[in-house]
Amino acid sequence: MVTSEKLKSYTRSNHQELEKKIIGKIRNIQNKSDYIELLQWFYNYFGAIEAKINSYIDARELEDHLQRRKTSTLLSDITTLGGTANQTIGAEDLPEFNNHLQAFGALYVLEGSTLGGPHISKMIQKQLKDYDGHGFSFFNSYGDQTDMMWNKFKAVLDTQAENETEQEEILQSADETFLKFKTWIEKQANLN
Ligand code: HEM
Repeated sequence: MVTSEKLKSYTRSNHQELEKKIIGKIRNIQNKSDYIELLQWFYNYFGAIEAKINSYIDARELEDHLQRRKTSTLLSDITTLGGTANQTIGAEDLPEFNNHLQAFGALYVLEGSTLGGPHISKMIQKQLKDYDGHGFSFFNSYGDQTDMMWNKFKAVLDTQAENETEQEEILQSADETFLKFKTWIEKQANLN
């Protein structure tokens, strides 16, 4: 079976667990500063992972790689809302990867977040008492290009593994990327 089809079922359980954590946080959002906090969690985790991915994937592997970066969009949402971004995440909170296959597994998780993003965006907007339309470029993803960008990404992803062992590396890395994000969120939620 092609990698992208396997990934969905392989990571389903950790995706759902992560979803639950994020929905829990969203239920407690009332104002912009609560929302900034959620953006900071994403900024830390996605920012650090993107930096690692950049060592293994560039425009040769994925021609629209630059267009897919999310750290700058998160930063711009945080500053638009009046917040300040701090990178506090440590190596122990990040998935480990040492080759381009593992980097593609992690990127699957980051890119896939664009599919849930619009749902998250709507949920948060309903919660905010001081919503004024700003600061949603990250969660609104690629707008009406989202499906096209996702299919294009999957087409490249599906050419990466040359055998089952390589495919397993992608699957495990994606699953670990979900799991560690859930753990990171739990850790942040406990600090409050
Ligand atoms: C409240 C939080 C979330 C909701 C409600 C949500 C919802 C969804 C939905 C509805 C899809 C399926 C879209 C489709 O098949 O057309 C999806 C897919 C996906 N989401 Fe989430 N999501 C959430 C959080 C996240 C986060 C935070 C990440 C990553 C860090 C993520 C990663 C993915 C991935 C990788 C897929 C692709 C699954 C596949 O088809 O292979 N999601 N999500």
